[in-house]
Amino acid sequence: MATIPARPLLASVLVALVVSAASAADSKNNPADQLVAFINSNRTANKASTLADNQGLGCIALQYIKAYQGQCNQVGENKKPIESSFTDTFAPNCGVQVATLSKITGRLLACQSNYMPPDQAFDILVNDAKSLEVLHSKNHTEVAAAVSGTSGGGPYFWCVLFSSGKPNTSFKVDGGGMPKSVRPGCFSGNNDDCMGASAAVSIGVATWKLVAALVSSVAFAFAL
Ligand SMILES: *[C@@H]1O[C@H](CO)[C@@H](O)[C@H](O)[C@H]1NC(C)=O
Ligand SMILES: *[C@@H]1O[C@H](CO)[C@@H](O)[C@H](O)[C@H]1NC(C)=O
Ligand SMILES: *[C@@H]1O[C@H](CO)[C@@H](O)[C@H](O)[C@H]1NC(C)=O
Repeated sequence: MATIPARPLLASVLVALVVSAASAADSKNNPADQLVAFINSNRTANKASTLADNQGLGCIALQYIKAYQGQCNQVGENKKPIESSFTDTFAPNCGVQVATLSKITGRLLACQSNYMPPDQAFDILVNDAKSLEVLHSKNHTEVAAAVSGTSGGGPYFWCVLFSSGKPNTSFKVDGGGMPKSVRPGCFSGNNDDCMGASAAVSIGVATWKLVAALVSSVAFAFAL
């Protein structure tokens, strides 16, 4: 009989518990949905409101990652895409109506050499007073997360965008449907299975062998 390593098994049980407490409509096989579940459970534990998960904003979060073009160091250097990207490229690429774009009230960004499950990504994204303030801010009404590797492997980027928009009317997708597919990558709110065989986020076999190796990561939080 094969021996199952205890740690990964325990981690996935914990993830399953948190995720099952989240929206039933969300996919169980989507790390971006799982990260949003961790964000909301941490907020409610700190007496902040639960945020709506907006799929149009989720698609934009994945576009936001793509703007870094796989360059991890730009996250560490506190660089962010120019504001006009939201109207000029992110929204059109997602099929999100520009007129429904709402204010971004916080951003959390991280880049890691190795893939980490959402609970560990959460710890990297929220790692100081500034990011904790962004996480717990009362300015937000909605949230979305995205994760993407670069061309089938690392580095892996995580992006969380918060907005003060009205959940039902902001970041609306043309025709009221799903955001356009913008693979590779996963984003929250769209009930998308994006891990596994047809891997929108593929975890290279090699990365599992490197578990014991040093993992480098950078993270940055922006209020607004
Ligand atoms: C919320 O997240 C922060 C930052 O990671 C952590 O220190 C705190 O323990 C978490 N709170 C709960 C209730 O999980
Ligand atoms: C909330 O919004 C106000 C007004 O824009 C701003 O001054 C404040 O810094 C924001 N708080 C956080 C935690 O981002
Ligand atoms: C938003 O949409 C949901 C589901 O369609 C509905 O139950 C809810 O009442 C709406 N909220 C507002 C503020 O319109």
